[in-house]
Amino acid sequence: MEFSRVATQAGAATDLPDSDAALVAAIRTEIERSGPITFARFMELALYHPALGYYATRPDRGTRSGDFLTAPETHPIFGRAIARQLDELWRAVGSPSEFGVFEYGAGSGRLAIDLLRGLAAERSSLASAAMYGPVEISPEREGLVRQRLEDEGFGDRLALETAATVGCVLANEFLDALPVHRVVQNNGMLSELLVDWQDGRFVEAAASPTNPALEERLTNEEVRLANGQRAEICLGLDDWASDLSSRTEHGFALLIDYGYEARALYDAARGSTLRAYTGHRAHADPFEAIGRQDLTAHVDFTAVERALGPFGWRRIGATSQAEFLVGLGVEDILRSIQADPGTTAADYVALRSGLVRMLDPRAMGGFRVLLFGRGVPDGLSPKGFAFRLAGGASPR
Ligand SMILES: C[S@@+](CC[C@H](N)C(=O)[O-])C[C@H]1O[C@@H](n2cnc3c(N)ncnc32)[C@H](O)[C@@H]1O
Repeated sequence: MEFSRVATQAGAATDLPDSDAALVAAIRTEIERSGPITFARFMELALYHPALGYYATRPDRGTRSGDFLTAPETHPIFGRAIARQLDELWRAVGSPSEFGVFEYGAGSGRLAIDLLRGLAAERSSLASAAMYGPVEISPEREGLVRQRLEDEGFGDRLALETAATVGCVLANEFLDALPVHRVVQNNGMLSELLVDWQDGRFVEAAASPTNPALEERLTNEEVRLANGQRAEICLGLDDWASDLSSRTEHGFALLIDYGYEARALYDAARGSTLRAYTGHRAHADPFEAIGRQDLTAHVDFTAVERALGPFGWRRIGATSQAEFLVGLGVEDILRSIQADPGTTAADYVALRSGLVRMLDPRAMGGFRVLLFGRGVPDGLSPKGFAFRLAGGASPR
């Protein structure tokens, strides 16, 4: 089984927490009222129900005390490397006095804090030009991130507007958290896998596709699913691309996530990429531990590029997270931290082990990093995209 988020343990779905009864009742009521729902609707309710959803009930989901670990939560060196990349991009557009940094799925605010600290540590003048705006699923979650930045002394870096003339949009492990539809190919016909309630539990129900965009997506990508093959399709990418495009008139979008180009993602050998994460364990059953487990699916980067294209975004670079971090010089950041007299042996060990995880091609090192630009100079070759590891960790 392939993983999208990084769980510290992988294995059989045993001893999973019970589902949240109130959330199950809310989803079941919707099905009883209007019939089977799409998997995307099920995932939206399971993760983002305003009061009962997985992301509404606890703020620490992607942390050590939660269910999976993301790169920003692994070690601050990740944010410092992003700071280096942002500094270079800001210079590439003429070092404007205000540069918006809007982060989709800002989570706990960890990346924001580390990149703002990183700009200071790197003595980058962007430290006094960057205006940061979290973009979260609810005003409450955005408020928590803003409060955390205030508490850390970065209140003057918080963007008051939701858009800027020039800037960079960031998204780390955000796209794989967007709800997906599920489909299956049977005897040359595409069916959608809806969610129904039968005999006291949620079950899959195959039906004609609820939206022609599902089949169109695969046709446009020249993907033909094999007989019996299941797949996930994220239709929300188009609305997100439109929203992203309203954030900056010109600038960049830096996206980090697990996924593939369409041809590789929908390869028959890969099958479904839907995964559930709870207590740092991964499994594939979305109908267990509802409200207590995260749900993700690998990102279709062909669809991401096609969604952004009509808004004028062009791909500048694509690489693996390992190559991105090495290209940005994580080794010299490591050495400078090692040389700092304030660094304890324990700090150093945490840094080394965090970095190993972030670089390991079988863990986060294999994540894809994509950079898009709109209205920016041609021919840019940012450091994070200029380095290739021998043998290539990049799932290109
Ligand atoms: C897996 S977490 C990643 C958090 C953080 N980027 C990190 O790397 O630790 C996904 C985040 O995306 C947020 N999210 C999901 N859908 C969203 C949406 N439509 N708009 C904004 N944020 C959303 C969730 O609330 C959650 O904080």
